[in-house]
Amino acid sequence: ILEVDVAKTITKIQPTMFGLFFEDINFAADGGLYAEMIKNRSFEFEKPLMGWEQPNTKRSSLNMNSGTATPIKVSENETNPIFCRVLVNDDKGYAIINEGFRGMGVKKGAKYNLSLKAANHNGAIKKIIIQLIDKDKKVIGETSIVPTTNEWEYYSAQFTATQTEAKAKLKITFEGTGTIDLDMISLFPDDTWKNRKNGLRKDLVQLLYDMKPGFLRFPGGCIVEGRTLADRYQWKKSVGDVEDRRTMMNRWNVEFSHKQTPDYFQSFGLGFYEYFQLSEDIGATPLPILSCGMACQYNTGELAPMEELDPYIKDALDLIEFANGSEETTWGILRSDMGHPKPFNLKYIGVGNEQWGPDYIERYKVFEKAIKAKYPDIIIVSGSGPSPDGEHFDFAMQELKSLNAELIDEHYYKSPQWFRENAARYDNYDRKGPKIFAGEYAAQSVSGANPNNRNNWECAFSEAAFMTGLERNAEVVNMTSYAPLMAHEEAWQWTPDMIWFNNLEAYGSANYYVQKLFSTNKGTDLLAITKEGKPLTGQNNLYASVVKDVNTKEVIIKLVNTAATPQEVTVDLKGSKLLSKGTITTLSSPNLQDENTFGDPKKISPTEKKYNFKGDKASVNLPAYSVIVLKLKLK
Ligand code: AHR
Repeated sequence: ILEVDVAKTITKIQPTMFGLFFEDINFAADGGLYAEMIKNRSFEFEKPLMGWEQPNTKRSSLNMNSGTATPIKVSENETNPIFCRVLVNDDKGYAIINEGFRGMGVKKGAKYNLSLKAANHNGAIKKIIIQLIDKDKKVIGETSIVPTTNEWEYYSAQFTATQTEAKAKLKITFEGTGTIDLDMISLFPDDTWKNRKNGLRKDLVQLLYDMKPGFLRFPGGCIVEGRTLADRYQWKKSVGDVEDRRTMMNRWNVEFSHKQTPDYFQSFGLGFYEYFQLSEDIGATPLPILSCGMACQYNTGELAPMEELDPYIKDALDLIEFANGSEETTWGILRSDMGHPKPFNLKYIGVGNEQWGPDYIERYKVFEKAIKAKYPDIIIVSGSGPSPDGEHFDFAMQELKSLNAELIDEHYYKSPQWFRENAARYDNYDRKGPKIFAGEYAAQSVSGANPNNRNNWECAFSEAAFMTGLERNAEVVNMTSYAPLMAHEEAWQWTPDMIWFNNLEAYGSANYYVQKLFSTNKGTDLLAITKEGKPLTGQNNLYASVVKDVNTKEVIIKLVNTAATPQEVTVDLKGSKLLSKGTITTLSSPNLQDENTFGDPKKISPTEKKYNFKGDKASVNLPAYSVIVLKLKLK
């Protein structure tokens, strides 16, 4: 028998308790959430024609060119310095073709918006034919543009796809002979999230929205740090006109890659403004993380000297102004000009990701002083290094505690067994010390980023077992997020991942449904659930936590059975006045290796049923390997 004292609130559950970690890894932004379908739209990749082909450049045995595309660089100082100069020699149908991000996913009957910038030398080119072609080169959508002037000019057109195709390409054919310059060739589905221009993929945002996340951490991860300081994520370069955001090689380009991704670049079309907007759209508190003047310690570990930290600190202060400043402030004006006059209500800022040692602490102190001096109410998230059992962890924790750090970011990528064995991890954390942000975690079926590292059911229910421990310790754990969030089926660098997508579809893994069960049932008040006075942290393979929701007047009990056999559990609600009806939601699967797939995306997904009981005791049969959410209405 498990006992719940409904009358005794231990602590309030933070609205931020269960949130999202977003990083542009695994093609999560460009090629994923960011709905742009053209890869290398502005010819700024390291090889400017990456993603583009010219099938009929050398057409005949006489080697007669029908045309050539040549990248032209204007100046180093420009943010978008390269454009494409197309010289068409004859009327034999010279074309350039963009391959998209592992193809382009188009849907029959859906509309697509094409835009490009062109300068037509002396009106040489009479018409530009734009076609979607399928994998057999059949035309499945077509429009055209008539470029009218010598000067750079934007043109746009809309067309409808006549066929569903996961591997479409965009073909641009030129009528006329002579030279035309092209840049910012862009193709978006018309149907983006909230129908925004420069928008996001609707199906992917929907999956996030459905989780009711408490916060959105962005833009990473290691991507924040960069392999070198010059490669760090600089938010100021990700705002303003999309065309002026300088493209950069992604930190996840090639390295750690199972399938090499040398074509992984960041367009920053999804930049800090869009991250704030997304946070607002999905009801999540924004949590940006910034470079602390240390490049990734797994790479160069380059350090900004202490006397050269000012630009990094200024970036943090200016970001707060960008998010919260009035329209009288420099950065507040930019936010307003971009379409959001109201502040984004930023409350948290992260200083560094997975950095460690005295170098980190030294830098953190300077950031803390500067941020608190100007914005005393902003809560600072500090790092604790890459792993809680790493050699740097204890040092970081001690130092940060002595500095009265507010929120410390812990990361753990461990075996499912570790997660089951660590459900009591926070039971003895000092309630008066810094709060904890479990900012990146995932159970790994095998270690390392490889195809055998699966989002299987054992990983997912082990995380659920661990999460009862996070919830039971809501006094000290204020924020938590699974990582990484998303991965493209054909272009990932890290496994496992919460959401998998290809160019047409997306599905939530079993881990996604575990996260969703917790975040949509987080309640408002933490209660205690005990057996013989002790919390359930794995005794008889059982784990439990309980919250109350004062708004819906419900008691919400989470139970996890990690045993291979069913177990009967009775919960004694100690005389509290309950209606005899409730709901029981079950997430379970018979095999440890089971997982969701594109073919069977909801194989492991929750089922909700009515639940009736008598008196003040609720009995539940927990299937083998199951996660149960029991909701009981208070009278
Ligand atoms: O989530 C993938 C990576 O894991 C993150 O970028 C980094 O913070 C961690 O090491």
